[in-house]
Amino acid sequence: MKALFSTPGAPRSVDVREVDEPRPAPHEALIAVVAASLNRGELALLPSRPDWRPGQDVAGTVVAAAADGSGPPPGTRVIAVVDQAGWAERVAAPTTRLAVLPERVSFSAAATLGVAGLTALRGLRLGGSLLGAHVLVTGASGGVGHFAVQLAHVAGAHVTAVVGRPERASKVRELGADRVVQETEDLEPRFDLVMEGVGGPSLERSLHALNRNGVVVLYGRVSDQSARVALPDFRGRPARIQAFFIYQTDVETFGADLAFLAGLLERGQIEAEVGLEVSWRDLDRGITALRDREVHGKVVLRID
Ligand SMILES: NC(=O)c1ccc[n+]([C@@H]2O[C@H](COP(=O)([O-])OP(=O)(O)OC[C@H]3O[C@@H](n4cnc5c(N)ncnc54)[C@H](OP(=O)(O)O)[C@@H]3O)[C@@H](O)[C@H]2O)c1
Repeated sequence: MKALFSTPGAPRSVDVREVDEPRPAPHEALIAVVAASLNRGELALLPSRPDWRPGQDVAGTVVAAAADGSGPPPGTRVIAVVDQAGWAERVAAPTTRLAVLPERVSFSAAATLGVAGLTALRGLRLGGSLLGAHVLVTGASGGVGHFAVQLAHVAGAHVTAVVGRPERASKVRELGADRVVQETEDLEPRFDLVMEGVGGPSLERSLHALNRNGVVVLYGRVSDQSARVALPDFRGRPARIQAFFIYQTDVETFGADLAFLAGLLERGQIEAEVGLEVSWRDLDRGITALRDREVHGKVVLRID
């Protein structure tokens, strides 16, 4: 079968090559991949990992059920999150990390859900009940951000979204943001939870925007900038910063949460924002667009 490899330093940053078929463990199903998505983490690692096989978010059809009897039978449409090697014609995925895809949800839409959807969902959960809460989402037009806006809205929060460019505001408002602000606008200290994926000055601003008991869920640093944070920033309020890494949450329940997210998509309670869809053979176009901030939402790869 064919699989995608990283080729740092070469004219194209990836290459599709022939490899052996995956050999699934007893608890893994074999999936024929139809669509996948590109995450910022992969974008960051591709230039430094020669001959690496990337790919975490996959959507496709089960071609061989798990030998231990867990998971769905062959022919079932599924989504899954794997550690790597998902950008391939076939991949083995633990059945605890996959979910059956509702008929009405396309492979392309489903491929956006993995790392981005789980990060938004599990990050927001750190704020407890969001009914009536004030939630701030930085990087709101990005992969994680646009799910965070929608999920916080569905959960009953009053959502403020931060966007880098005014032209991104209307879509974010459509997705459920009650208010959209620019990166430079002042914010009053009223937020119970901030989903913070930008870092640097954005993190500093997020911290000052917390209310007395608020929490910044710090999951990313897409700006590549460092923040200056000191004890006086917390004077008079026990607000906190909570670090978040999706793979340090319970990976055994990824499947259950993916099923929940796919159900929301099916019922139209959230939507998948496919900002760009390209063939996996044209991944460099996706890499350039994501790196240059031309994508609203996610880059989806067709494994064709
Ligand atoms: N900890 C974890 O488990 C975890 C999980 C997923 C992602 N992450 C990390 O979280 C961050 C966001 O991920 P993502 O998938 O949402 O990324 P993304 O799709 O590229 O979105 C990034 C967003 O940040 C905004 N942004 C603001 N300043 C930026 C800058 N200097 N450069 C690029 N974008 C900037 C962009 O806004 P514009 O609309 O203005 O371009 C965009 O909306 C990344 O650092 C990623 O590695 C971590």
